[in-house]
This record gives sequence, structure tokens and C-alpha cells, in this order.
Amino acid sequence: MHEELRALLPGLHAAQSVNLAGRDFHLGTLAGQPVVLVLSGIGKVAAATTATLLIQEFAAQAVVFTGVAGGLGEGVRVGDVVLARELLQHDMDASPLFPRFEVPLTGRARFATDAALSDSLKAAAQRCLASIPHDAARITAACLHEGLIISGDRFVSSAVDAQALRALLPQALAVEMEGAALAQVCADFGRPFAVLRTISDRADDTAHVDFSRFIAEVASVHTRAIVEDWLAALR
Ligand code: ADE
Repeated sequence: MHEELRALLPGLHAAQSVNLAGRDFHLGTLAGQPVVLVLSGIGKVAAATTATLLIQEFAAQAVVFTGVAGGLGEGVRVGDVVLARELLQHDMDASPLFPRFEVPLTGRARFATDAALSDSLKAAAQRCLASIPHDAARITAACLHEGLIISGDRFVSSAVDAQALRALLPQALAVEMEGAALAQVCADFGRPFAVLRTISDRADDTAHVDFSRFIAEVASVHTRAIVEDWLAALR
């Protein structure tokens, strides 16, 4: 998200920007590590293009995606953080030619994130969530969840739609619009990847209101703290 990028850019040293396919790729060193920061764009196609460019044009050795998501799983609340262990495209349906959700000709519906990369991000997220002050409306600190995140080209903003996704995919913790596309591209190129999302809404009838307020106030703070902590710990 723009707000996340805006929070991270001041920390980027020796920064240089390259515009490609309408995207600004920001190259430099962040917390001592060489990185490329870029907005993914919204939706699966935008995310797939961005991931391909990161790998093919900028030789990214690993890809980390941060952003926000709608909470689906029980107990996945606004302000919590979800680390993907697997991703699936909930709007992929080439049945009856292929089983529902399976990406045709790959033989699978679920794409696993890189375990080592995800573990190191998890450790950074745990350190940060313990220290970031939480919203006064919350009684407890933000929780970290890990498991299945589902992606599709649809902003889920009704309780009925959220319930339908829960019924179809009971293991899904959160829904967003890019992660599974990134997963498919990284699997094609054999690059490790991880996806970390802050929950901005419950994918229900108030999702659009919660979403906007949340990104500016909470998600960008989480992302900056977690990404910088994670990179610093790699040194
Ligand atoms: N990203 C954040 N909230 C979302 C929602 N409710 N549906 C899809 N993507 C989202």
C-alpha cells in the first residue's frame, strides 16, 4: 500500500528509482540489506506482473509481500497480523476440467510459502507486536496467526460473501487480492517468498470503512516496524 511504502522509503539509503511498466522500483539499502521496494498494484494480474519484474529485471532472490487483508477465521481481528503458510486463489475455477481452486496444469491449488523466510518474518512480527502500542479500543494486544490466506480479484465487503468463503474454505484465515498470484509466480521461478498481512476489516458490510481508516493508522506502522526489524536481524 502507498502508506506502507511511504513509511519505509525514508529509511532507504543510496536510493535510486527505476520506472518500469508504470511502477516505481526503489533500489537501495534498508536496515543494512540490499532491497527493492515497490507497490504491487491491486489484484492478481498486477501482483503477478510486479513479482515477475522483481525477479527477472531486478534479480530478487526472495520476495516479501506486506499489506492488509480481511479477516475470515474465527478470532482473526482487526489489528491482528496473519503470516501466510499457504496461499490459494479462491476465484480459480476451471471445473469440471480441473478440480475447483486448482491452478490448471500445475496440479495444485495451494502454494506453500518459504518456511525459513516465513519463520524469520514471524520472529520479527512477534518482537514488534509485543512492543507496538495497541488501539485503545482493544483490550488485548494484536495476535499473530499463521496458515492459509486466500486471494481473488474481489474486495469482499458483505457478511454473506465472507460467510460463503468460510463455508467453502474453512481453513482460510484471511482474504486479500494478490498473495496467491505472487505465490504462483515465485513457484514458477523457484524463488522463496513470504506474505504478511495486517487485518484491516472483517470482510463484512463495514469492510470499506474499516479498511481506509486502518491502513493509514495501523498497517503502515506494523509494516515498517516488522520489515526493518526482520532485515536488521538478517545481518
Ligand atoms: N484487503 C483488505 N481487506 C480486504 C477484503 N475485505 N477483501 C479483499 N481484499 C482485502
